[in-house]
Amino acid sequence: MARDYSGKTALITGASSGLGVEFANQLAARGANLVLVARRKNRLQAVADAVKLEYKVDVQVVVADLSEVSAADKLFKSLARKKLSVDVLVNNAGFGTFGKFENEPIEKISEELRLNISTLVELSRLALPSMLKKNDGVIINVASTAAYQPIPYMSVYAATKSFVLSFTEALWGELIGTNVTAIALSPGGTKTEFFEVASNGKAPDGLGKLQTVEEVITVAMNALDKKTAPPSVISGASNAALAFSGRFIPRQLLIKVARKMFESRS
Ligand SMILES: NC(=O)c1ccc[n+]([C@@H]2O[C@H](COP(=O)([O-])OP(=O)(O)OC[C@H]3O[C@@H](n4cnc5c(N)ncnc54)[C@H](OP(=O)(O)O)[C@@H]3O)[C@@H](O)[C@H]2O)c1
Repeated sequence: MARDYSGKTALITGASSGLGVEFANQLAARGANLVLVARRKNRLQAVADAVKLEYKVDVQVVVADLSEVSAADKLFKSLARKKLSVDVLVNNAGFGTFGKFENEPIEKISEELRLNISTLVELSRLALPSMLKKNDGVIINVASTAAYQPIPYMSVYAATKSFVLSFTEALWGELIGTNVTAIALSPGGTKTEFFEVASNGKAPDGLGKLQTVEEVITVAMNALDKKTAPPSVISGASNAALAFSGRFIPRQLLIKVARKMFESRS
């Protein structure tokens, strides 16, 4: 049965483009009020205006760099001042570094670790107590098919997404018996600004046809409609098949295939 998010507050990170915008649309379409977070104020405001007009829900915008230390704490303090508690947390903001590890700037790597891992964990930790108190809530963490195997030339990014997958699935286990759940969404290649941010705008050839944001977010929303939502979902049958085939392929071969796919772009 379709979950009703009417009157709930959904906090979506990385809502100024790509998957975050689609999360905003699909959650608002089901009645959720939104708090949208990212760094680009104009882009965020444009998303907020469009969603408000279309769905007549309340939308607030918070401009924040979530790769900064204490960003999660600051964000939750600002929500507390507005007397907002989060019913749906979407940890979507993230980026990837591509290239030879020895050439990646250390500060960029640290930002990637803080945004993709630390802030995601801290926001989950900050959101959970009020969800448990109400015995109602959802944490959606955006991982990636990159979580399912090591990826040479994307070593740090793939490892951050493995962390997100493992953390979220473990949290799902802790929440059994409550009406609060956590789910990891693993998109494969998707048409967003991700590849422009990560490299020169071109997705690696081996990724095949990119999915639309609508296809990807619908997978997460449908999974959450199930009586018992699973700990994780992968968008697209071919992405799921590829991720699971990794379990049966010798590790060395798996890494060499991934290296082949990404080396031309390093
Ligand atoms: N597209 C794909 O192929 C793909 C595949 C698997 C997983 N993913 C994951 O999907 C998630 C969303 O990415 P996307 O594909 O939608 O890419 P995108 O279009 O580049 O969106 C990334 C979002 O994250 C925000 N963001 C980046 N750095 C931030 C920071 N320091 N503080 C706050 N917000 C920040 C960006 O907003 P500002 O720049 O305005 O801050 C933007 O709204 C990411 O976690 C990504 O790893 C994407």
